[in-house]
Amino acid sequence: MTSPAPSPTANGSAPGADAALRPHAEQAYAAELAALAAEDDRPRPPGWRLSPWAVTRYLLGGTLGDGTEITPKYVGARRVVEVAVATLVTDRALLLLGVPGTAKTWLSEHLAAAVSGDSTLLVQGTAGTAEEAIRYGWNYARLLAEGPSAQALVPSPIFTAMAEGRLARVEELTRMPSDVQDALITVLSEKTLPVPELGIEVQAQRGFNLIATANDRDRGVNDLSSALRRRFNTVVLPVPQSMEDEVEIVSSRVEQLGRSLQLPEVPAGLTEIQRVVTVFRELRAGVTADGRTKVKSPSGTLSTAEAISVVTGGIALAAHFGDGVLRPADIAAGIRGAVVQDPVSDGVVWREYLETVVRGREGWSDFYRACREVAN
Ligand SMILES: Nc1ncnc2c1ncn2[C@@H]1O[C@H](COP(=O)(O)OP(=O)(O)O)[C@@H](O)[C@H]1O
Ligand SMILES: [Mg+2]
Repeated sequence: MTSPAPSPTANGSAPGADAALRPHAEQAYAAELAALAAEDDRPRPPGWRLSPWAVTRYLLGGTLGDGTEITPKYVGARRVVEVAVATLVTDRALLLLGVPGTAKTWLSEHLAAAVSGDSTLLVQGTAGTAEEAIRYGWNYARLLAEGPSAQALVPSPIFTAMAEGRLARVEELTRMPSDVQDALITVLSEKTLPVPELGIEVQAQRGFNLIATANDRDRGVNDLSSALRRRFNTVVLPVPQSMEDEVEIVSSRVEQLGRSLQLPEVPAGLTEIQRVVTVFRELRAGVTADGRTKVKSPSGTLSTAEAISVVTGGIALAAHFGDGVLRPADIAAGIRGAVVQDPVSDGVVWREYLETVVRGREGWSDFYRACREVAN
């Protein structure tokens, strides 16, 4: 007797986004994308689900004619987003460059979701990324049994994106070995991927393009060759300019994350979010917000993304072990953990900041006490 094949999800329904720990952007925002597509009467480039204008709308947010609220995904200069979107309709690929935590990955996922309805054609760049991840590989059992055939070929995400006219994503491009990076040159210049073993080639269909991300801090690791760089339009994602921008990013992301993790409701805790962002910005800049006191910067990046984690962690503490309100004690340990990456040198930086800045600051005495407690 054969038992029925296990269903892909526990409840037996179609593989659902509902139970996924982290749904893809096109699943999480399916309703917004559908509403945008319904209203969008501007010309769509071949292979695109939406017009460039509607893609930009999806990323920056707004209210549609039918009242649908589009949540802002990217908080920052409109021009940055417009240049990124416009690049994708040209024959050049898009390179998003910036320090860690500037939403490179986030923006690339949402761009792919809005343009192609699919953000999953992804290659992760590491020192161990092989050429098969860019071109194609083989199912060796079939290859040995049947010889090279289309059925034995295992397409890479880029292969699939070319064949189907979608966007492919390459994460951390500069971490891949240079010779693997160079496999992209033919793909991007000729828009074709030959398969000599089968005597065929995949010609990229309209709608294909590539979004790569690279970390500013990795500069010099495996620098892009000039041949490859010419195939890309580079868009630099800046760190949030003002305190207000950064607080807005953290608040909105924390709220979305809390909802998808189904954390119990905790009042927004704007005071604590402002506190985390203030500490991070001051330590990053090496000077207090009023410009009066110089402070030392720790070794970590203290990115917006880390601020989001600190606050989300604090909300989990407040919800499960506190009184349901985000308090200084709920964020103190998280902040310290983000700042003190190197226990010795960063420990000194943090203690100095606590004593010279936090201690005397009006309204911060609870936070000072909470930090002193975790430090001991
Ligand atoms: N300008 C911004 N607008 C919206 N979200 C942002 C912004 N900057 C950072 N974030 C948030 O920070 C988090 C991490 O971003 P990520 O894309 O992983 O960074 P990167 O790939 O640049 O290191 C994401 O959850 C993203 O929402
Ligand atoms: Mg990233």
